[in-house]
Amino acid sequence: MSDSATPLTRPLRIVLPGGSGQVGSMLARYFHERGHQVTVLTRGPYTAPWLTVHWDGKTLGPWVETLDGADVCIHLSGRSIDCRLTRRNRRELYDSRIGPTRLLHRAFATLNSPPRLWMNASAATIYRHALDRGMDEASGEYGGGEPISRWRRAPKKWDWIVDLVKCWEAEFFAPPMPRTRRIALRTSLVFSPGVGVFAVLSRLARAGLGGTQGNGRQFVSWIHERDYARALEFLIAHEEIAGPVNLAAPEPLPNREFMRVLREAWDRPNGLPAPALLLALGMFFTRTETELVLKSRRVVPGRLLDAGFYFEFPAWPEAAADLVRQWRKNSF
Ligand SMILES: NC(=O)c1ccc[n+]([C@@H]2O[C@H](COP(=O)([O-])OP(=O)(O)OC[C@H]3O[C@@H](n4cnc5c(N)ncnc54)[C@H](OP(=O)(O)O)[C@@H]3O)[C@@H](O)[C@H]2O)c1
Repeated sequence: MSDSATPLTRPLRIVLPGGSGQVGSMLARYFHERGHQVTVLTRGPYTAPWLTVHWDGKTLGPWVETLDGADVCIHLSGRSIDCRLTRRNRRELYDSRIGPTRLLHRAFATLNSPPRLWMNASAATIYRHALDRGMDEASGEYGGGEPISRWRRAPKKWDWIVDLVKCWEAEFFAPPMPRTRRIALRTSLVFSPGVGVFAVLSRLARAGLGGTQGNGRQFVSWIHERDYARALEFLIAHEEIAGPVNLAAPEPLPNREFMRVLREAWDRPNGLPAPALLLALGMFFTRTETELVLKSRRVVPGRLLDAGFYFEFPAWPEAAADLVRQWRKNSF
C-alpha cells in the first residue's frame, strides 16, 4: 500500500497563507517531504525547510506573486478559537478569518494564472449539537438555537461560532471563480503528537485529571493528522470534488469513551471527572470557553468516503495509541 492516499503525479507549487500554525506546519512538512514546492505566507517570516514569505493578511503586496502559476492555495489563517468570547476577541476571530479570505479574493483577481484549487479552512462546528445521528455534508443540519436538552437551547455563544463559520464560508464561495475549484475544509479536531488539543487533553490525562467531561454523552469528532494530510492530497487529485467537505474520522465517539481510551493510551486508567459546572469554572480561569468540550460534534466524512478515501486511522483507539507512541518516541 502506498503511504499517500493518492500519489500526485508531479511536483506541485502549494501556497499556504496562514500556514505557520499547528495544521499549516504539519501540512507544509507533509507536502515538502513529498517533493512539492511549499510556500507559507506569514505575518512574521521564520526559518523553515520550505519558503516563508511575509504578508500582513490585510493588504496586497509582493506576496501575491507567490500565487501566480501556483497549483494549490490552502488558506489557514485565523486567531485561535481557544479564547474567551469577549467583544474584542470576537472581533479578532472574525477579522482574522474573513479579512484574509477577502484579501485572497482580491489577489486572485489580479493573477494571470491563478491556482486551479483553493482550499479554505472552515470548521466542523458549523453543524448543530448532535447526539442522535452523524452530520454529513448532504443531510447535516447547521447549528443555531437548537435544543440541547429538554429545557435548554444552544447557548448564544455557540450560535455565534456557527454564524462565524457560516460567514467565513459565504465570503469564500460568494465571488464567481470560473478558473478555480474551491473546497471549504470543515475540519474537526486535528490531533498531532505533542501540540494543540491533543497535547492539552494528554496533559490532563497524565496528571490524573482526564476523566469524563460534562455528562460525557456529547460526541467528539476528531481526525489523525496523517489522515488530514492524506485527505487533502486526495482532494487535490480528485478534480470532481468542490464545495464543503467534512474532515473528520468516520467514527466520532461520546466524550466518556473518548477520554477513557485516551487515558488507557497513556496507561492512566483513572481520571478525575469534570462536570459542567467545574469545567465552566476551570475554563473561565484558563480564559477559554466550554463550547470546545460540551458541544456534541458528531460529524462524519460523507463526501470523502463516497469518493473512495480510506482512513488509516478510522477508530480512536488505534489513533490514540499511535499519537502517544509518536509523542513518546519524539520525547527521547
Ligand atoms: N487545529 C484544529 O484542530 C482546527 C479545527 C478546526 C478548524 N481549524 C481552523 O484551521 C485553521 C488552522 O488551524 P491551526 O490550528 O493551524 O491554527 P493556528 O495554529 O492558530 O494557526 C493559524 C495561523 O493564522 C495566523 N493568524 C493568527 N492570528 C491572525 C490574525 N489576527 N490575522 C491574520 N493571521 C492570523 C497565524 O499565522 P502568522 O502568525 O504566521 O501570520 C497562525 O499561525 C484555523 O483557521 C482554524 O480555525 C483548526
